[in-house]
Amino acid sequence: MAKQHLTFTLNGSPVEVLVDPRELLIHVLREQLGQTGSHIGCDTSHCGACTVDMNGQSVKSCTVLAVQAEGARVLTVEGLAGPAGLHPLQEGFMQEHGLQCGYCTPGMLMRAYRLLQDNPNPTEEQIRGGLAGNICRCTGYQNIVKAVQYAAKKIAAAQGE
Ligand code: FES
Ligand code: FES
Repeated sequence: MAKQHLTFTLNGSPVEVLVDPRELLIHVLREQLGQTGSHIGCDTSHCGACTVDMNGQSVKSCTVLAVQAEGARVLTVEGLAGPAGLHPLQEGFMQEHGLQCGYCTPGMLMRAYRLLQDNPNPTEEQIRGGLAGNICRCTGYQNIVKAVQYAAKKIAAAQGE
């Protein structure tokens, strides 16, 4: 099958790769672009470990063909921290012990990132609902919710400065 040229913006920088038309975005991110933060946790589109942000929406990158990312803005967990340091969500996961094995964490962070972009002051129920497509087999979710609440407060405080 003929390869296709694919160009898109990854974590703020332009990238160009040759892809098979049937290749999935998660494979291109991990295998061609070295962005191994996004994980593959299932074969059924259920776990959310592969979640990235594409054009301002959360997508499970195991369900997106790489060619669908043509011209898109893609943000992965590698691009979440800023020049000033960790993103408040990353800090929140550390402070509130929002992870154990860490396998789900990159997907949780990216989903929570979009959740807070869309709703900076979510209720606990909205956080739980927003993360419903991301499975964690370790934590019981309680500390993940606290981590998102920590980040929401920190972002709000920074904006009030
Ligand atoms: Fe499980 Fe994508 S790898 S939803
Ligand atoms: Fe292990 Fe979530 S911390 S799967």
